[in-house]
Amino acid sequence: MYTLGIWDGHDSGAALIEGNSVIFAANEERFTKRKLEVHFPIHSINAALKYAGLKPSDVEKVAFTTTELTKTLERAFPYMKENYYQFRRRKQLRPRFENARHNLKYRMTSIGVVPFSTSISKGIVARNLRHMGFAKFKLDVVEHHTAHAAGAAFTSHMKNGAIITLDGVGDGICGSVNILENGEFTRKQSISVRDSIGIFYEQVTNVLGMREMEDEGKIMAMSCYSYPFPFEENKLRDFFIVTGTLIRAKYGPTKQFEMLQRIAWQTPREQFSYMAQQLIENVMAKYVSNVLDRYSMSDVAFAGGVFANVKANMCVRNLEQLRHWYVFPHMGDGGIALGSALYSSYLENGTTDYRFNAYLGNEYTKDETLAVLKKDRSLIFQEESPFDHTSHAAELLGMGNYLLWFQGRMEYGPRALGNRSIVARSDQEEVKDRLNLYVKKREWFQPFAPSVLEDDVGRIVEYDGKGLDKYMTMAYMVKKEMREHAKSVMHIDGSARPQMVGEENLIYMNLIRKVKGRMGNGIVMNTSFNIHGYPIVMEPGDAVGVLKATKSKYLFINGIFVTNRAGVY
Ligand SMILES: [Fe+2]
Repeated sequence: MYTLGIWDGHDSGAALIEGNSVIFAANEERFTKRKLEVHFPIHSINAALKYAGLKPSDVEKVAFTTTELTKTLERAFPYMKENYYQFRRRKQLRPRFENARHNLKYRMTSIGVVPFSTSISKGIVARNLRHMGFAKFKLDVVEHHTAHAAGAAFTSHMKNGAIITLDGVGDGICGSVNILENGEFTRKQSISVRDSIGIFYEQVTNVLGMREMEDEGKIMAMSCYSYPFPFEENKLRDFFIVTGTLIRAKYGPTKQFEMLQRIAWQTPREQFSYMAQQLIENVMAKYVSNVLDRYSMSDVAFAGGVFANVKANMCVRNLEQLRHWYVFPHMGDGGIALGSALYSSYLENGTTDYRFNAYLGNEYTKDETLAVLKKDRSLIFQEESPFDHTSHAAELLGMGNYLLWFQGRMEYGPRALGNRSIVARSDQEEVKDRLNLYVKKREWFQPFAPSVLEDDVGRIVEYDGKGLDKYMTMAYMVKKEMREHAKSVMHIDGSARPQMVGEENLIYMNLIRKVKGRMGNGIVMNTSFNIHGYPIVMEPGDAVGVLKATKSKYLFINGIFVTNRAGVY
């Protein structure tokens, strides 16, 4: 039996599972080309059904999540969420009452689920599905943090462990502790939205003039450019305290925003970022430590947008009592369509372990790819065997080129993982600057990430074996002797966020092997295949679009090597 999971809020999307396998998952942004899309995920649902060869009427079970008051209002009046999307992404002029709007948002989202909001949400989602041709289906509602937690728990392959979620807000709470023990998944506690470290970090992002719910990674990156100082000198240190398994905020979101603005006014932005980062690292490490002690657990899985912070994750990983950890690769709200489907399926059949990897999206045949390439006379292309393809690519990388690299199924989650990536050699600053200036157009302080072979990771970073982090969810310190080889993929503090590539991606693994054979280091610089402000590419037409828009020279796509005659970089 199939279960379809859907999410129709920030970074909407759909996922399809059958038995104990995740068979498809994607986010709507890739189809609509609007980053972190918020519309009902019609395209993702249709793509999931197409992949499995199903009609809407074949699906008997659908799960969706989050029925709090604001989400229900947005479902009833979709222009509200479109308006907030345009505001948040700076697609409109600064509103006159920006602060009032900001405060209203946090007041509204703190209300949570109210009488009738679940039944109204359910009615609207069912109606949207019926418009798409769904007929006889059971519709399950999954609570927001349960969806986050189920994503982590049921893809972690853990038998027993603590499942911790932390985000901005969802269904009136901002975090939860759940225990997975002997096939039973149980909620143990929740954190009130007033005490949200996710909202705190969002507000810090906003105060520094960046986009909340999108640019938090930039704050983390910028924090490394401050001079370090002890926690006792941190002006934000008392914004949160951790007592036992409780996190308590000194101020509610409105007062907190005022206080942050006041402190930021007198503080250079690098130091302000450092303060915020240092605070959440302290809070998260102490909180997770106390939870593990309280429930006598040493294995832990994490989800929720706060765990996108790979440097805070690194502090948590260093806890002594932590034996094994896992971060769900699509940790933010983009991952809760799958989490909803997994939880609904667990309630039905008790399964707590699902086959999962990060390559769950659309794929295109060589013929479909050739049909796109043939439309453009400025492109020269030739087919290559997989062996020649990776050798050729490694040779061009060795010569200092970057390559647009597209193959197989699209990645699920925020990271490019060797199927929709831009790759380059890891030991040159020059190629990094070229990519930043002409292709990615990113802030200079944002680092790129490395892809390394899974069985080679201990040679490159300080790897402690506490979890095989395949999908760039954890920072590690690069070994001193490898830093010369990791110039373009290492942050200023010597940390990096590696992808650990194994048999789940044979062609990409082969490319890294060839790079290792040619250059000795076994590191490929990997950044997402997109242009500034747009989502990662999905289909061959998008890939050709980026090739031409960025005047790049080379594209490797589904076994075809493409040269752009008009390419400069
Ligand atoms: Fe969330």
